[in-house]
Amino acid sequence: MNQTWWKESVVYQIYPRSFKDSNGDGIGDLRGIIQKLDYLQALGIDVVWLSPVYKSPNDDNGYDISDYRDIMDEFGTLADWEELLAGMHQRGIRLVMDLVVNHTSDEHPWFIESRKSKDNPYRDYYIWRPPRDGHEPNNWLSHFSGSAWQYDEATGEYFLHLFSKKQADLNWENPGVRAEVYDLMRWWLDKGIDGFRMDVINMISKTPGLPDAPVISPGDRYQYGGKYFLNGPRQLEFLQEMKVNVLSHYDLLTVGETPGVTPQDAIAYTHPETGALSMVFQFEHMHLDADRDESSRRSIKRWRLHDLKAVMTRWQKELENQGWNSIYLTNHDQPRAVSRFGNDDVYRVESAKLLATFTHLLQGTPYVYQGEEIGMTNVAFPSIADYQDIESVNIYWELVREKGMDPGAALALVHAKGRDNARTPMQWDAGSQAGFTTGEPWIKVNPNYPAINVEQALADPNSIFHYYRRLIQLRRQHSIMVYGVYDLILPDHDEIYAFTRTLEDERLLVILNFSSNTPVFSLPAGLDCPGADLLIGNYETDPSDDLHQLRLRPWEARVYRCKS
Ligand code: GLC
Ligand code: CA
Repeated sequence: MNQTWWKESVVYQIYPRSFKDSNGDGIGDLRGIIQKLDYLQALGIDVVWLSPVYKSPNDDNGYDISDYRDIMDEFGTLADWEELLAGMHQRGIRLVMDLVVNHTSDEHPWFIESRKSKDNPYRDYYIWRPPRDGHEPNNWLSHFSGSAWQYDEATGEYFLHLFSKKQADLNWENPGVRAEVYDLMRWWLDKGIDGFRMDVINMISKTPGLPDAPVISPGDRYQYGGKYFLNGPRQLEFLQEMKVNVLSHYDLLTVGETPGVTPQDAIAYTHPETGALSMVFQFEHMHLDADRDESSRRSIKRWRLHDLKAVMTRWQKELENQGWNSIYLTNHDQPRAVSRFGNDDVYRVESAKLLATFTHLLQGTPYVYQGEEIGMTNVAFPSIADYQDIESVNIYWELVREKGMDPGAALALVHAKGRDNARTPMQWDAGSQAGFTTGEPWIKVNPNYPAINVEQALADPNSIFHYYRRLIQLRRQHSIMVYGVYDLILPDHDEIYAFTRTLEDERLLVILNFSSNTPVFSLPAGLDCPGADLLIGNYETDPSDDLHQLRLRPWEARVYRCKS
């Protein structure tokens, strides 16, 4: 398999608004990140993915950009950003910027022009349609509730917004739009950045005619139109053009955020020769605890280990030698990993370490989201008024007002699935506001910060933080962790997720007890692990342990290296 630095890297995601506030206004900023670069270096990560820091009216916390070539006032200046980049590079850390080009803010100068008149030169930068029978041009639902169309008085037409009505979709059919995007990409690349995370990049090609979405939720006025805007007809063509014009001229990590992709789509995007991107974010495992994929935040069910094994194994096997994946359990849009896939109660530390073992031992590039390395958990604010996320607030009112759901049940969904779980301030110490700010934070801190914080984690040699550090170091020392072929074992076990990685004559055996019980692991017939040597584990172990009869402790994780 061809070797590249971005396969060998571990990426750390920073959500700047919630990472570290340097000036007491309650909002995280670039100088705050600069203060914490030594911390990131101590963790040992190779790459930082920075969520958007561009100028933005913050309807969706920076994912609504009004100037692609400048920094948001609250976050600092371009000079601060230059200093941040230099500080990272000095420490051997690469920087990946967020590229949000499916849509712009409605306050972007292009949109301000576009809405002025039907013959404005920027009109065709966006997707405008006349009313259909006095209503929206089609039945598409916005990701943030309500119609995906907004009527604009000035010209009597609607514009498309797959997200909020302050996030107008760009018209990628227009070559001028594509040229502008390539230009701004080069502008940042020429400043020396190391790649892009591409926001909802598989939504840029819409099916011509914008047909009505099939009715999945009978009785609802608007329906999910993914069929006509995910992986659309010109998607691969646009990415190839971007590759030829921009990407191929640099040595980059590019990761496409691609909801609804199948492994086959992912191969088309990331194939080592023909793909345009390094890797994608797929979402199948993010839907295991929901009734329906297209609205995973409006329902909750218990996820099953069988399903997790099936999904991850399919992705591991299908992409083998054909493409490359990112491995993540959380990000700024998802609940906290330990609360969702682990046990955030008695076994918080053990299960957070198990999940870390999982993400670092699968094939693909591991992503660590800020706070994951100290086992930060979900939060349950008592009132919807405590929530800041546009998506959660809109879902709550949609469920309560339109669907007549009990407010307590709607709040419980926000507690379990809401994006603010990941956006509470980073917990640096046990002091006021978790050491995040000297002022009032823009969103409340999680009340568990006196027990769960960085200062505590650094001081405790058995902390989740130090376990991550060891995993990251190990991944550097053992290329089998990066390149080894994955094979599932014990496929039917209800509590144990076990697999091997194989590279030439080397083998790793990964044993993960995804439960608070104490099941017995036993090597399947035909598989042996001679001279089993424990590479890492989250409990003390006895060297005389028998892999044919091994009682695991709650959320126990072990990785063995077998000699051949
Ligand atoms: C992506 C981002 C999310 C944002 C949306 C619209 O899914 O990760 O935070 O709300 O795109 O830009
Ligand atoms: Ca600040």
